[in-house]
Formats: sequence, C-alpha cells, structure tokens
Amino acid sequence: MLLDVQNLTITFDTKYGPLTAVRDLSFSLKMGETLGVVGESGCGKSITNLAIMGLLPTQAKISATRLAFEGNDLVSMSERQWQRLRGKDIAMIFQDPMSALNPCYTVGHQLVETLLVHRDFSKKEAWSESLNLMEQVGIPAPSERLKAYPHELSGGMAQRVMIAMAISSNPKLLIADEPTTALDVTIQDQILRLLKDLQEKRQMSLMLVTHDLGVVAQNTDRIQVMYAGEVVESGLTQEVIHHPTHPYTSGLLAGHPTAEVSTKGKARLPSIPGMVPDLRHRPQGCQFHPRCSYAQDKCRREMPSDAGPTRCFYPLSNGRPA
Ligand SMILES: Nc1ncnc2c1ncn2[C@@H]1O[C@H](COP(=O)(O)OP(=O)(O)OP(=O)(O)O)[C@@H](O)[C@H]1O
Ligand SMILES: [Mg+2]
Repeated sequence: MLLDVQNLTITFDTKYGPLTAVRDLSFSLKMGETLGVVGESGCGKSITNLAIMGLLPTQAKISATRLAFEGNDLVSMSERQWQRLRGKDIAMIFQDPMSALNPCYTVGHQLVETLLVHRDFSKKEAWSESLNLMEQVGIPAPSERLKAYPHELSGGMAQRVMIAMAISSNPKLLIADEPTTALDVTIQDQILRLLKDLQEKRQMSLMLVTHDLGVVAQNTDRIQVMYAGEVVESGLTQEVIHHPTHPYTSGLLAGHPTAEVSTKGKARLPSIPGMVPDLRHRPQGCQFHPRCSYAQDKCRREMPSDAGPTRCFYPLSNGRPA
C-alpha cells in the first residue's frame, strides 16, 4: 500500500474552541492508482491533502490510528524526514499556479533549483532535465520559456510549469488539488489529459481533487465522496457514478444523467438545497440528514458508521431507498 489513512481526524484550535474539520477519515491508495475526491466546498478535501503533505498550520491537531506512506508513519515524522519526502515522493499541484511560483525568478531557475534539491544532478544536467520536463508537459519553445518569468506565462502555461516542477522529482504520489479550476474549459481538458498521461507513463498514484464529476468519471479508477469532513461513499468510479448509494452522491449527480457525466465530461456539481454544516453547529446524527429527503428518525439521532462503502443507514438502490 502506498498511502494508508485510517481514522484521520483533524481539529482546529479556534477562538470558538476546538472544531473538528475532518472526522474518522479512512482510505488507501495503491501504487499506480488514481483516486478522485469530490465534495462541496468546505468538506475537508484540501486539509486532508495538507495533512498528507505535513503542511497543516500549527493550530491544527491530527490524530489517526494510521497515517502512513510506504509503511512509514507520517504523524511522528520529524521536519527533517518530511523535507526528504515532501516535494519528492509526494508532490502536490495547487489550484493557483501563480501563488506557487516565485515571481522574482525565471521558470528555468525554479525548475533547476527544484531538481538540484531532489535529484543528484550537476547544474548542467539539471538544466537539460528542465528542458526535457518542459517538453514532457507540452510547452512549446521550451528553451525560451525557461528564461521567462512567471508573469510572462499564460495561466495554462504556468499550470504546466507547476506540473513539470511537481513531477521533476519522480514522485510516487501526486496530489492535484483542483488543478484546473482557474483555467478555461479547453485548457482544463488539455491539462487533465496531460496529468492522466503522465500518471500512466510514470505509474504514479494520483489523487485528483475536483468539483467536476465529469473529470472524475473520465480520469479516475476509484472515487471518494466527502461530506462535512467524512467519507460518505467510496468505490469504483464507474460503479459509484452509475449506481450511487448515498443520497449525497445521488444529489451531486442529480440533473446530470450518468451518460452525460461519463461522455461529455463537463458536469459541475449541481446545487443540493441547503448548505454544508458550519463546523460550530454540526448536526446530531448523520451530518447530511438536514438536507436529505430520505432522512428518518434514526438519521437525526445516530451517526452512521463508516464500515462498508456507504455511510448511510438507508443506502439507495437504483436511486431509491431500498
Ligand atoms: N486554519 C483553519 N482554522 C479553522 N478552520 C479551518 C482552517 N482551515 C480550514 N478550516 C476549515 O476546515 C474545513 C475544510 O476546509 P477545506 O479547505 O479542506 O475544504 P475543501 O473541501 O478543500 O473546500 P474547497 O472545495 O472550497 O476547496 C472548512 O470548514 C474550513 O473552514
Ligand atoms: Mg480545497
């Protein structure tokens, strides 16, 4: 197992007291596998990624029965050990490439520096590997572009540079946190195809966080649906997309017939009435019950367990309560 997360809970110390943003989250990822993570804004997708990268802010407290990468415990890892892992075996692509690139240095400088940190290269070798990477991510006239500053690149181009930097260390796991939201639709498609292509060629594992169910349907092996910091449904992508069993998943897919999701590839999350609960006012029982049209008394009182693929007392079958 490449990544093994069991019962991960993330709590923030805030002026309102401790708030639990991620609760009892369990999932794992094998080498070469692609996992799609979906859920509305505020469901805990990004902070889960930050926990895996060891980048949570200090006011966040983590607990987990297991949080391991290649069998090594991440919770007890020292900052020194993190530096060897982060950006090398585990790399991440952020939503906004401009915030992750340093405006004061050329693209080439930043790529070369990254390569010198993580790979055993001379400066000359690092420069030629930079050219090679720029070609791999489909940047035309790469030697010119290496001399450019980030602000001289288009958004799509900057995103490609970010991808080049992320894969420069040959990571085993690449986490892409909404890598294309800032881009227009045609560029989004190109970037996603590129990511998928690189994932296959390099046999990397990929965690793809997105609001776009079409993207998940086309590009992932498995899917994990998050709601209010919990995984509410997980399974093989095609299975979940065509036969959702959690009312939340079904709600996300509503209005997007499965055929449309899997072929057209552009299905934004439709809105389900109501909102993700404020962490200060989590409902009792199932977190989704206030928005669920199938909720019953038990759902208002008790919390469904995460054993099994669907965190629901009354999972759907063919779109209806069984
Ligand atoms: N530093 C912090 N202090 C307190 N709460 C935080 C902090 N960072 C994140 N949170 C809370 O954790 C929850 C999950 O946030 P997260 O950024 O992981 O959401 P997300 O699923 O990535 O959403 P989006 O789709 O908008 O990116 C939110 O309720 C957020 O307010
Ligand atoms: Mg996020």
